[in-house]
Amino acid sequence: MDVLLVGGSGFIGQHLSAELDDRGHDVTALSRDPDPGELPDSVETTMGDVTAYDSIVSAFDGQDAVVNLVALSPLFEPKGGNEMHDRVHRGGTENCIQAAEEHGVDRFVQLSALGADPDGPTHYIRSKGRAEQAVVDSSLDAVVFQPSVVFGDGGEFVSFTKRLKKLFAPGLPLYPLPGGGKKTRFQPVWVGDLVGMLADSLEDDNHVGEIYEIGGPEVLTLREITEMVYEAEGKSMRIVGLPMGLAGVGLKTLGVVPGFPMGGDQYRSLNFDNTTADNDVEAFGVDTAQMMTLGAYLGVE
Ligand SMILES: NC(=O)c1ccc[n+]([C@@H]2O[C@H](COP(=O)([O-])OP(=O)(O)OC[C@H]3O[C@@H](n4cnc5c(N)ncnc54)[C@H](OP(=O)(O)O)[C@@H]3O)[C@@H](O)[C@H]2O)c1
Repeated sequence: MDVLLVGGSGFIGQHLSAELDDRGHDVTALSRDPDPGELPDSVETTMGDVTAYDSIVSAFDGQDAVVNLVALSPLFEPKGGNEMHDRVHRGGTENCIQAAEEHGVDRFVQLSALGADPDGPTHYIRSKGRAEQAVVDSSLDAVVFQPSVVFGDGGEFVSFTKRLKKLFAPGLPLYPLPGGGKKTRFQPVWVGDLVGMLADSLEDDNHVGEIYEIGGPEVLTLREITEMVYEAEGKSMRIVGLPMGLAGVGLKTLGVVPGFPMGGDQYRSLNFDNTTADNDVEAFGVDTAQMMTLGAYLGVE
């Protein structure tokens, strides 16, 4: 199968490229500046920007399937401001849909996010919801994935916990987390488990039309995750609680400081869980008991 991975040079795209390559598919990775050195030798790369239709449309020619993995991180405010979420996620997805329809692509897989909602509380969540809606409304044979946070080699989730420390308490022997890190819960999924399911969704017609919520094998608070990350380095860190209201004022205030990478959206995202009560991994014959835990990945179990 010829598969175009839009955003294929990123974290999940690199792992998915390797998985599809191993399964014998012909993969092309498209992004604004793909680095062939980070992808398997047989994966082709092509340059394009999803916000500019003419720069991507020719890459869809001759493809059997497309996976849209283009992302702006929800963890930091994008360069160009929060409006970029709508431009890249919704606008970029609509351009991919149009190009796929124009070239008669058989299968379209959309990487969305848990909680994606056109009326949701953050720019990221709203733009992901609107992008997802455009995919569902299209004429394509589509499959939508809504994963919780994804961890693995090359991912930013684990290092994010340490970056927060550098931003808020550089050099101090303590870590002030909003709400003590006990309020927000995640269900981290290992990238190696996720890409197997993504590849299956391309190969098996039974997945067409489905929207899958994907979580890992355990639910963890931000505090538990942070403690594990430091434990994996043989360090202990004293986590202290920062009242949620104070954290909100702080992030909203700092968000207007040029160059500060977080703002109100990041605070709002700490107010809702990133978990699923309806984990769809079983649709791929996956048993959560066999999935990689964050602790096992970090070597602290
Ligand atoms: N990682 C997670 O924890 C997680 C959790 C839930 C959902 N997801 C979703 O999974 C998907 C993949 O995430 P990821 O972690 O792999 O993201 P990532 O590492 O940030 O990769 C994003 C990719 O998109 C490309 N890109 C960005 N802007 C572009 C543009 N305007 N035109 C073309 N390409 C562009 C980037 O390459 P260039 O910079 O070279 O353009 C890169 O290849 C996203 O849809 C994300 O929302 C991820």
